[in-house]
Amino acid sequence: MIITGDITELRAVRWADRSLSWGLVPTMGFLHQGHLSLVAAAKDANDRVGASIFVNPMQFAPTEDLATYPRDLDRDFQLLRDAGVDLLFVPDNESIYPPGFQTTVSVADISRPLEGSTRPTHFQGVTTVVAKLFNIFQPDRAYFGQKDAQQTAVLRRMVVDLNFNLRMVICPTVREKDGLAMSSRNAYLSAEAREAAPVLYRALSAAAAAVELGERDGDKLRRMITKLIAAQPLSQIDYVSIADALTLQEADQIAGELLLSTAVYFGKTRLIDNIPLSVSSAAG
Ligand code: PAF
Repeated sequence: MIITGDITELRAVRWADRSLSWGLVPTMGFLHQGHLSLVAAAKDANDRVGASIFVNPMQFAPTEDLATYPRDLDRDFQLLRDAGVDLLFVPDNESIYPPGFQTTVSVADISRPLEGSTRPTHFQGVTTVVAKLFNIFQPDRAYFGQKDAQQTAVLRRMVVDLNFNLRMVICPTVREKDGLAMSSRNAYLSAEAREAAPVLYRALSAAAAAVELGERDGDKLRRMITKLIAAQPLSQIDYVSIADALTLQEADQIAGELLLSTAVYFGKTRLIDNIPLSVSSAAG
């Protein structure tokens, strides 16, 4: 595995043989099985796999956890090497945001609800850095996890709107045995909060099961999820949403492609989870 923080060196490796296809897995490090499932999917479909590790300051608000975001580069290098990554980009801040940097990329409407309502500057940070990573690597395919559902919707929109010449591949959420979605932020949870946290997936799954049984009232389902999560005393709900999967507008009646999602605080740690649902309007 070649590790570099140098854009010129990276491009030389990436373009050494133009006949090879490349998949890219962008990350902020502190890797878990979710990231490694993206690498495995990229290895299956491409001749070469690139990954990046960059804790992107632009996607953290001043009140958020940039300084304390978990980091373990040596362990990450080993995991990516073992997973068969060919080229790893680990830039410093200056390489991504050189002095005088003033160009940003933002996707308007779908960046605003859900995560965007609590974290109004977050997606501009994500789209700006991912646009840069796409320009630097020029991958044939780019891999992201369904766990960050709004991020995938925002990035898909950006790829279409800005004509990036690549395929977005969204891989299923990888979960712990008790259902908790894997996330680097799970490392912050106290033992009690860790025990309580699977309630997110249990509540979303209960609502998905109710839809399966014919429930079509969006408000009833949101109330059901809220009640289940609120019953867990350590939880503090940020949002519960049942929205159109493409526009992320809240749905009154359940039909079509939907996203059940929630964000919940356990102490200072904010966890998100979601379940995508496809509901035929004829059923129910
Ligand atoms: O999902 C993440 O880890 C980050 O948002 C990403 C896509 C690597 C951009 O910094």
